[in-house]
Amino acid sequence: MEQIKNYINDNKNRFINELVDLLKIPSISADPAYKQDVLNCADEVAKSMKNAGAEKIEICKTNGYPIVYGEKIVDTDLPTVLIYGHYDVQPADPLELWESGPFDPVIKKTDIHPEGAIFARGACDDKGQFYMHIKAFELMINTATLPCNIKFMIEGEEEVGSENLGVFVKDNKERLKCDAILISDTGIIANDTPSITTGLKGLSYLEVEVTGPNRDLHSGLYGGAVANPINILCEMISKMKDENNHITIPGFYDNVMELSTEERVEMARAPFSLDKYKKELDLPDIHGEEGYTTMERTGIRPTLDVNGIWGGYTGEGAKTVIPSKAYAKISMRLVPKQSDEEITELFSDYFSSIAPNSVKVKVTPHHGGEPYVSPTDIPAYLAASKAMETTYGKKPVPVKSGGSIPIVALFEKELGVKSILLGFGLDSDAIHSPNEHYGIFNYLKGIETIPYFFEYYAKSR
Ligand code: BES
Ligand code: MN
Ligand code: MN
Repeated sequence: MEQIKNYINDNKNRFINELVDLLKIPSISADPAYKQDVLNCADEVAKSMKNAGAEKIEICKTNGYPIVYGEKIVDTDLPTVLIYGHYDVQPADPLELWESGPFDPVIKKTDIHPEGAIFARGACDDKGQFYMHIKAFELMINTATLPCNIKFMIEGEEEVGSENLGVFVKDNKERLKCDAILISDTGIIANDTPSITTGLKGLSYLEVEVTGPNRDLHSGLYGGAVANPINILCEMISKMKDENNHITIPGFYDNVMELSTEERVEMARAPFSLDKYKKELDLPDIHGEEGYTTMERTGIRPTLDVNGIWGGYTGEGAKTVIPSKAYAKISMRLVPKQSDEEITELFSDYFSSIAPNSVKVKVTPHHGGEPYVSPTDIPAYLAASKAMETTYGKKPVPVKSGGSIPIVALFEKELGVKSILLGFGLDSDAIHSPNEHYGIFNYLKGIETIPYFFEYYAKSR
């Protein structure tokens, strides 16, 4: 016990500085302009694994960005834990909203993080979180307390849908063989309220294109007489939900399981303040599907959102124009038993069916992913729960998240192993947004909690 605390105290400045260095690399997987940076980041991750004491390190090529693998097999009789994380990050824009450079990490105190937080793209999602595992591993190696075999698999395409990961997992089943998978890429309720994510949503993401006339037209000469694709697209989008914010795509809810009253009562036990929620986001009021609480809307109900919409003239001043085309990017977050392929098809059929004859429409599916549920009675969950209880002094609450990590369902399908989502971020850490940050408290708490997970997990088997 003392040993863990002492090791962290003696090394915490170095732990922070190493993370800061990693955060300086703009490993944006979505933008080809950063290709070399993403590749350099993979090299750095491999080096950090090596320095911590991992063996058989390999920067595994894929059709996209490489996957960094490393392992330490202590004894083949011991259980094996696979650690997954991602070294790629989201694009940093809109840049003008950052208070400091997204790749010039700075440490600042905030109300929620009085010990300070590191501000940088990827600080919480997911560099700061997977790096906790490398440092916890280093700690266990240097204190000779690693009680399990460990395998690391840190990928570089999570933020763009992990499209090459499926093949890698299928081709490397033996190498990835493990008894439990541990992932820190989610969050906790608050720094004094630990929680473990027990559900992730699936995802169906598509782009739609509506075409009216074959060229942009003068909006006076033609206005009112031909279809305006932006008007039509807006009408079509508004037809996707009814007055209760229920999604209207036929068949959309067919496989959705309704929770029992007991399950809903259980869910409502997780601490949540609507006032704080509204205040934090400057919301005049909340909005969502009738008949469900905010936690239920994000945790157990499927959703549909426009992520971006464009077309026509958006520059300075006014230009009178009826555009030829309008576009939108639409995501649907799915719950257990909904299949992303099926939902993508239902969406496409419905979208085409509600298009008026005056326009042409095209639907292009992007990436998808299946939902995931984690049991709370398996040894790995119990070990994670006990580990958090040890370091936070409070038993963690199981929480269903609205986020998606498509590989988790794939791991279950291909390796037959459940993942434990032991994340340490906060919703207010602004992942994917300007000024993303990760609390120093959270970072060090994660490094402290992980060795307990290994200890309890090894003992439970
Ligand atoms: N780490 C997030 C997912 C997440 C964050 C889950 C917080 C739960 C709590 C991950 O990097 C992510 O952003 N996933 C994407 C999906 C992916 C296919 C682009 C998402 O959820 O939008
Ligand atoms: Mn992530
Ligand atoms: Mn992300």
